[in-house]
Amino acid sequence: MLPTLANDPRIELVSATDPQAPACAQFERDFGVSCVESVQALCAHPDVQAVYIATPHALHASHLDMAAAHGKHVMVEKPMALSLQDCTRMIEAAKRAGIVLMVGHSHSFNAPIARAHQRIQSGEFGAVRMIQALNYTDFLYRPRRPEELDTAQGGGVLFSQAAHQLDIVRLLGGGLVTQVMAHTGAWDPERPTEGAYSALLSFASGAFASVSYSGYGHFDSDQWMGNIGELGQVKNPNDHGAARRRLSQTHNAEQEAALKAARNYGAAQWSGSTATPAGLLHQHFGPLVVSCDRADLRPTPHGLWVDGDGQSALEPIAPTAVARQEVIDEFYNAVIHRQPVLHSGVWARATTALSLAILKSAQSGQPVVPEFQVAPNASV
Ligand SMILES: NC(=O)c1ccc[n+]([C@@H]2O[C@H](COP(=O)([O-])OP(=O)(O)OC[C@H]3O[C@@H](n4cnc5c(N)ncnc54)[C@H](O)[C@@H]3O)[C@@H](O)[C@H]2O)c1
Repeated sequence: MLPTLANDPRIELVSATDPQAPACAQFERDFGVSCVESVQALCAHPDVQAVYIATPHALHASHLDMAAAHGKHVMVEKPMALSLQDCTRMIEAAKRAGIVLMVGHSHSFNAPIARAHQRIQSGEFGAVRMIQALNYTDFLYRPRRPEELDTAQGGGVLFSQAAHQLDIVRLLGGGLVTQVMAHTGAWDPERPTEGAYSALLSFASGAFASVSYSGYGHFDSDQWMGNIGELGQVKNPNDHGAARRRLSQTHNAEQEAALKAARNYGAAQWSGSTATPAGLLHQHFGPLVVSCDRADLRPTPHGLWVDGDGQSALEPIAPTAVARQEVIDEFYNAVIHRQPVLHSGVWARATTALSLAILKSAQSGQPVVPEFQVAPNASV
């Protein structure tokens, strides 16, 4: 998110905090402002109007509590929290404090997904009947700390990656999932958390969706997206297998955690930039087909493909000047113009509930009814 926050003229970065000193030092160099010593101090900072919480999942709820206590608006990363109790606590704390609570970024913000949603809402293609979504990545072989490989502490693809895919599919399918039947895979004993899932979702409308994710991918499904990566970047084919190669140079959990830390913002191996890279297309989360009565819709990095009765055409969508501008559009309009957020606490709680239902269905071998489902734009 940093290139987005750094380059959108509606955002002024006034302070930050991180227990890692190199991250704070880099932030101070990049933005010419001072970091503070704790999340508590950041939330109490008189110049701070809103806080972006991008700490590990398990800390989101307590960090929202601190922001709410100081009346600061919050954008909190996905997944919203690890339990539905924490999600509910966050929703209630935000409501009591009268602050905006938006959960994101998730890829359901992407402009081609939003365009598909608008076109479905217009009714021109009839009802949504079926959705297919899949993604093959090397997610499980990126460097992790031990808790990120423990499902009970929020590890694995159901918390980190399903949050994107389920958000997209719920948005396009009408939000209200009535039943889930799922399998999950935890196939690498050295990385003992879920790296894959497949689930069949039933919607209240009668539509159904098949969602699959593999973080064990030797295949990279970005190849089916024109070799455009998740962040809208053209991928270098020579990078194939890079995550596994990098990981193979570490020999224990401490070395792996050190590798992750070294690649963080401001650390020794950090090679990022706060600039928006040139030539980005739209972000995506893998191949996706939405079948309606009179058309199949495919959001892509270039726009929205519409295969209808008499036409097959790409509706191009121009990339925005700043990547993920859609996220700031929604947050800014909520904070400044008090407009409702689509990616609200109740919306994100429903997505978290669906991730948990997939885990439960896979464990029990039974269909599960996910809790707290809501339609898009349900009142908070
Ligand atoms: N939307 C997306 O596409 C996307 C992508 C990556 C990560 N994320 C989300 O962002 C969050 C962070 O993920 P990450 O992989 O960057 O995690 P991370 O483990 O690198 O931690 C993020 C930062 O939080 C800091 N931190 C740790 N404990 C803290 C504390 N007690 N107080 C303040 N700061 C603390 C760390 O030092 C680190 O700089 C997760 O919830 C993740 O799901 C979202």
